[in-house]
Amino acid sequence: MSVRVNIGCGLCVGRDWINIDGSWNAWLANRRGLAGLLTPIIGRGWKAWPAGVVHGDLSGGRLPLKDATVDILYSAHFVEHLTKEEGQVFFRECLRVLKPGARIRVVVPDLEGAARRYLRDLDACGGRDLRAIGECPGDEFMRQLSVSGPRRRWVPS
Ligand SMILES: C[S@@+](CC[C@H](N)C(=O)[O-])C[C@H]1O[C@@H](n2cnc3c(N)ncnc32)[C@H](O)[C@@H]1O
Repeated sequence: MSVRVNIGCGLCVGRDWINIDGSWNAWLANRRGLAGLLTPIIGRGWKAWPAGVVHGDLSGGRLPLKDATVDILYSAHFVEHLTKEEGQVFFRECLRVLKPGARIRVVVPDLEGAARRYLRDLDACGGRDLRAIGECPGDEFMRQLSVSGPRRRWVPS
């Protein structure tokens, strides 16, 4: 059987696929007893996740897969969460784990479409500053791109 991998799978988990995600909810869903105990503190987000998702932070690290073992690699709306450097490492890792002749499909937001909508909405504002009423075309543009700036580190105060 072909080896199929879904990277940054979220809740879109394929049967007979190796599904990998860095969400703590994915980690908790594999430890339902512990998650149940912690639910009053952490909330119920983990309940939406199926068990069996491989948990791993893929921001610039090694994919938890052996060399040249994957036939199909799929990743949707994940790569844009990485920095450019992390993305470069990620694609090198993809090349490492894919078999010769394997397939890779990576889905990312439509930059051109989002940029066109942004300019159209900006023109529609007619130069008015709509931020005061919470209607900033730039906010929608950023949301559509899932743009993340440099990672913010949590620093205890
Ligand atoms: C926008 S969701 C996309 C989920 C799914 N692929 C889809 O198309 O609906 C992005 C997913 O990537 C995961 N993710 C983001 N950064 C990650 C990282 N550094 N390592 C592993 N997973 C990450 C998140 O936990 C989330 O499930």
